[in-house]
Amino acid sequence: MVAHRLTVIGTGYLGTTHAAAMAELGFEVLGLDIDEDRIARLAAGDLPFYEPGLPELLRRNLAAGRLRFTTSYAELAEFGDVHFLCVGTPQRQGENAADVSFVDSAIRSLVPLLRREALIVGKSTVPVGTAARVAGLIGELTSENVELAWNPEFLREGFAVQDTLHPDRIVAGVPSAAAEKILREVYAAQIGEGVPFLTTDYPTAELVKVSANAFLATKISFINAMAEVCEATGADVTKLSQALSYDDRIGGKFLGPGLGFGGGCLPKDIRAFMARAGELGVDQALSFLREVDAINIRRRHRMVDLARDLLGGSFDGRGVAVLGAAFKPDSDDVRDSPALDVAAAIQQQGGVVTVYDPQANANAARAQPSLSFAASTAEAARGADVTLLLTEWREFRDLDPEALGTLVAVRNIVDGRNALDPERWRAAGWTYKALGRP
Ligand code: UDX
Repeated sequence: MVAHRLTVIGTGYLGTTHAAAMAELGFEVLGLDIDEDRIARLAAGDLPFYEPGLPELLRRNLAAGRLRFTTSYAELAEFGDVHFLCVGTPQRQGENAADVSFVDSAIRSLVPLLRREALIVGKSTVPVGTAARVAGLIGELTSENVELAWNPEFLREGFAVQDTLHPDRIVAGVPSAAAEKILREVYAAQIGEGVPFLTTDYPTAELVKVSANAFLATKISFINAMAEVCEATGADVTKLSQALSYDDRIGGKFLGPGLGFGGGCLPKDIRAFMARAGELGVDQALSFLREVDAINIRRRHRMVDLARDLLGGSFDGRGVAVLGAAFKPDSDDVRDSPALDVAAAIQQQGGVVTVYDPQANANAARAQPSLSFAASTAEAARGADVTLLLTEWREFRDLDPEALGTLVAVRNIVDGRNALDPERWRAAGWTYKALGRP
């Protein structure tokens, strides 16, 4: 292996996973964040978010001395020759567009300190056109030979370690053969495993990422649109989805009907993509994404309506047990979480809501301080008039309807993720409702 020394700027989900995974592959890695508290925790082996397998990876590589953390750009510039940019690009307040100011400020902090040639590798999800602009900015900030590549990341929360060590593909927008050579050396382990390595220009690399997320979001909203039609006809969307999935051309992944998508990526990425298309004068090309977003949001309203109907038309003073707050299982992330949105809406309509999530209670309480939280399913469900399954954690899928039935006041359940067996719940005396099912 060529002994590149790697740095990672930004230690969120993406950066922390990338840093630990590259260290695991044998590289010396230095991670940087401007958040001192976060860096102190990471350096002590304390992962500030939930991600299965990552704490072990972090601690093993810290102990081996291959992975270190800093808040100093001077140290970073001195240490590395390949610098991965993993900062966040959140949705701008009150707008659809992405805020790329963290990308720019990282570049402005790092580049003037570089004293020898280097490759900067952007991994953040950015509006198409950003890489070319940032390459120009780098040229203004230094006379050293500093190149920029754009190498989008496709990792999923909950599978971040596996997705980073064994990705489906590696895509890199590269400005030169030299930059490509360095990236091939950095990713030699994955390429050696047969992972396809595709080099492109900058805009193609940027677009691969956002179009992948747009496609995934579209697939989910497609099946949820079918769920709306099922609801109007008495059809069962879970059977429909299953039948569609046997067609190889369609496939069953991301065809799970329910409360729809949330999280830090899909919702903001499709909105930023639409905003960028507008700026480029091709907004019509992506107008379908407005519908994808609208279908997704309508599922949350439908969920609230189903629960209210079960209670005879009003939440006033009624006990509502909410199972799940994270935007998906195996995550403690509540960004744009459908579950939390539904819980807050029901509380606003007068419901006495108690939320339990196996990992996300703390983050959910910070995001929605007015909600009440329980430490277990049993505690959340005690005395409830209706129980809502909103994030399909394993422990909720495995719930015993008999045992839960002894705790609640009324055996009413709405399955927001089509994760339960209706027959089993009905046999135990529950009134079972689900999205897209009769
Ligand atoms: C996503 C992309 O999958 C990943 O490639 C990209 O890098 C970042 O965005 P992530 O946000 O971690 O990853 O979550 P993902 O597993 O894609 O799920 C997104 C949302 O879709 C979740 O809220 C999930 O509950 C929902 N979903 C997923 C469905 O509603 N139905 C499905 O069939 C699949």
